[in-house]
Amino acid sequence: MTPPSELTAVAGPATIAASGDGVPNYLKVHYWWAYVHPRAVRLFERQWLVDLILFGNYRQLRDAALAELGDRLPGRTLQVACVYGDLTQGICQRVAAGEGELDVVDILPVQLDNLRHKLAPGSQANLLRHNSADLGLPDDSYDRAILFFLLHEQPEDVRIGTLSEAFRVVKPGGTVLIVDYAKPSKWHPLRYLWMPVLKVLEPFAKDLFSRDLTNWLPQPWASQNFRRWSFFGGLYQMVKIEK
Ligand SMILES: C[S@@+](CC[C@H](N)C(=O)[O-])C[C@H]1O[C@@H](n2cnc3c(N)ncnc32)[C@H](O)[C@@H]1O
Repeated sequence: MTPPSELTAVAGPATIAASGDGVPNYLKVHYWWAYVHPRAVRLFERQWLVDLILFGNYRQLRDAALAELGDRLPGRTLQVACVYGDLTQGICQRVAAGEGELDVVDILPVQLDNLRHKLAPGSQANLLRHNSADLGLPDDSYDRAILFFLLHEQPEDVRIGTLSEAFRVVKPGGTVLIVDYAKPSKWHPLRYLWMPVLKVLEPFAKDLFSRDLTNWLPQPWASQNFRRWSFFGGLYQMVKIEK
């Protein structure tokens, strides 16, 4: 889909390169309709729509991530990128129960504003504008990081940068939790409907699940305490890695 001219998208290879406003080109070129345009935010910020896009699996995936994070989140938690729906509200409640701290980073001011409006007054969350592939946050400073459906939207160099930054800022012994698409098996009834749709709307998704997620992890964590869960006949995966 062609972005409207006011978004000044720069066609060409989708890399980490950002235009003057700091927004990476791949977001402007491929995701203006989902995240960048203010009308996109108004359209997509509907839990039922996000659920529909995930074939009715949003709640299950959100709850699996929250359950894996735990009921109480003491210390420092980092959510890398905003998400539509109420995942962050769930994390906030757990952070409050654990008397911890939550930082949420995103590169788009419009997304951070949207999240600010969604959070209950008095929620303990710091909303920070950063690129996930260049976080500018201190080393070993978080107890855990969560990446919910972010990596499939990023071209390979950005994806590698995002994972390397997540592992850099998490403390030794801390965890990185990833929820994202996985490669549907050959027998999956949605495979033949889903793959052509993904190709058009999510051009980097196939690349993400063409290889095992460990392929994109920085060494030495690629082979470290690694747990994986599969959902909806393998269409989605959740991975937890201890640093
Ligand atoms: C987490 S992803 C997809 C979430 C999922 N589709 C949903 O909303 O449920 C969407 C977010 O990632 C952000 N994002 C994408 N690339 C980014 C980057 N390089 N740095 C920071 N945020 C980024 C977008 O601005 C957007 O807010």
